[in-house]
Parts: sequence; C-alpha cells; structure tokens
Amino acid sequence: MANEDRPSERYNAPDWPAYYCAVARAGPRASLLAALDGFAREPPETAAGLAVDLGCGGGTDTVELLRRGWRVLAIDAEPHAIEFLRQRGDLTNVARLQTQVSRLQHASWPPADLVNASLVLPFLPPEAFMDVWARIVSSLRAGGRFAGHFFGTRDGWATVPGRSHHTREQVESLFTNFDIEHLDEREYTARRRSVPRNTGTSSKSMALTRSGGEIG
Ligand SMILES: C[S@@+](CC[C@H](N)C(=O)[O-])C[C@H]1O[C@@H](n2cnc3c(N)ncnc32)[C@H](O)[C@@H]1O
Repeated sequence: MANEDRPSERYNAPDWPAYYCAVARAGPRASLLAALDGFAREPPETAAGLAVDLGCGGGTDTVELLRRGWRVLAIDAEPHAIEFLRQRGDLTNVARLQTQVSRLQHASWPPADLVNASLVLPFLPPEAFMDVWARIVSSLRAGGRFAGHFFGTRDGWATVPGRSHHTREQVESLFTNFDIEHLDEREYTARRRSVPRNTGTSSKSMALTRSGGEIG
C-alpha cells in the first residue's frame, strides 16, 4: 500500500496500529488519573458521568474509565483504534461504551463531565486547533474536567508540518477560565522509532476543572 493510501498518513501520523500494541499494557495516563482523583474528592453523584475520550487510540484510558463506571464516547480517526479497543480482553462495562470513527475536526460529541484528550491534540493541524479547542471547552458541563496533553515547541516533532505545538504561555492562555488542578511539564530525551533517535522532546500533561461560571 502506498504511503499516501495508508489511513495514518492521511492525517500526518505515525503507525498507529503498532502504537496501540506497544502501549496496550501501559495503563491509563497520569493526566486522566489526576482528573479522576478530582472527581473522587466530590460527592458520589458526580463521580462517574459521561466522559468523551478524544483520540482514544487502543483504549488506554477508555478501559480505565469504563472500569470505574463511566459512560464513555471514544472517538478516533483511525478505524484500527476502535477495532483494537473493542477487542481488548480487559474491556469491561461495554454496554456503557459508544465509539465514533472521526477526525476531531469533524467529530461531534454531547455535553460531558470529562473530556479526555491524551496525546492527540498535537496531531491537529494548527488551522484546526482552535476550533476543536473551542468545542472541547463548550462541551464541558459546569464543574467538568479536561485532561490531556500538549507538546512543547522544543519537541522533536515541532518541525513536522501540520502539527500543533505550544509554549507554556500559550497553553495557560487556553485555560484562563479553568482552575488548574494539576500541571506537569517535562522535557526529556526520547527514543522513538518514528523520529530520529535521541531527539529532544517536551510535552505537557494536565488535568483541569472548569470554574463554576460560564466559560468562553
Ligand atoms: C499517540 S495516540 C494516543 C492514543 C491514546 N489516547 C493513548 O493515550 O494511548 C494518538 C491517537 O490520536 C489519533 N488521532 C490523530 N489525529 C487525529 C485526529 N485529527 N482526529 C482524531 N484522532 C486523531 C490517532 O489515530 C491515535 O489513535
């Protein structure tokens, strides 16, 4: 199959099916766990509502959300992601799972208590980023949380065309109407097959709660 015909190449992405296998046993992302910890500190009736898992991949986070009793709408552009997720042996509460194969630029999702976007937003083209971000913010119910990652401008992929990388200041400006509960910024040297080895890369992960009032 020619590169331009491969689904992953259509949205400027690595070999995602191989990635899903590689991280299948890694467990949920720390940013998601931080957001879930936030809900766990609140009254039980708000503890497990509707979560939207944007760029769900092979289900790293979706599986954990379902295990904890959340209803989950899992969205990914890659059909293999949804197939991988639905075939996982550790998938529980499957009746609470809905899936959607769609690029975030074209996806729609209902109001949610939690929008989770682990390692996906940097793959949006810059011209699409703010529209998707605005829809994330407007879909969060009052008191809801966002959890997810951003890649920094010193990241090894920052020079790849069609990606969205952010400075810390730019990330903070996205969250002016949120209470930041957890922010973890790291810079490290990664060894990846899909980029030159020992490429310096930086990423940010965070989990946030919106303030009680209106956003936007
Ligand atoms: C690095 S993986 C992360 C998967 C999962 N969230 C995790 O933490 O393991 C990025 C995922 O985003 C998806 N993706 C990339 N660009 C996308 C887009 N524009 N719309 C929807 N999904 C996208 C890919 O198919 C892939 O499954």
